[in-house]
Amino acid sequence: MMRLDKFLADMGQGTRSELKKKIRSGLVTVNGVPVCRPEQKIEETVQKVCIDGRAVSYELHVYYMMNKPAGVITATKDGREQTVLQLLSPEDRRKGLFPVGRLDRDTTGLLLLTDDGPLGHRLLSPSRHVDKTYEAVVEGRATEEWRHAFAEGMDIGDEKPTLPAQLEILEAGELSRIRITLREGRFHQIKRMCQAMGAPVRSLKRLSMGGLRLDESLAPGEYRRLTEEEKAQLCLKKPMP
Ligand code: URA
Repeated sequence: MMRLDKFLADMGQGTRSELKKKIRSGLVTVNGVPVCRPEQKIEETVQKVCIDGRAVSYELHVYYMMNKPAGVITATKDGREQTVLQLLSPEDRRKGLFPVGRLDRDTTGLLLLTDDGPLGHRLLSPSRHVDKTYEAVVEGRATEEWRHAFAEGMDIGDEKPTLPAQLEILEAGELSRIRITLREGRFHQIKRMCQAMGAPVRSLKRLSMGGLRLDESLAPGEYRRLTEEEKAQLCLKKPMP
């Protein structure tokens, strides 16, 4: 059981004060009957709540897939720069939402946003080794030697060498297009690994995380809710070839 105004606020329908006004004006119904007291307790998983004639169903957690654009930082708050959370429309900005893992300001692609703390921890936990795949354009001609270096693990100046990573060469030339799959997420890891090969990164995009793939129909800055199938996929661990 929870208060009607809290339920609506938790479901992203507005601020508590806006919602109190709406409820008092009779714009909210519970099982078809207008309820004018914001403090009215409802059974959120059973009763049907409508606001302005629109049904609001109960969701314990929300999961959004975003195609992160360049120039936006992966943080919940920042005094100066635009954050990924600010790209969400006000009704989608639920309390407790956070980005799962961090992409650099200039990195684009798949970013998961949720208010499901335990799922976020599971996906980020170093011991889980959730695969993350990126596509990068780098300076210089990618070679088999790079592939071996990525597969063996390399010294990028940390205490330990990197874990084995998979490198696929998509195009090799003055600039090369490569696909990299990592099982860990160190600070600037791809940029540092490519730099160690003498190949500065020109652009970087994340394509997948665990079983979740970027929906390429999302333009940079767009997002959508995960499908039920994608939510189920999130916890799967793909073995590395
Ligand atoms: N590796 C990087 O260097 N940057 C990212 O944003 C993600 C992985």
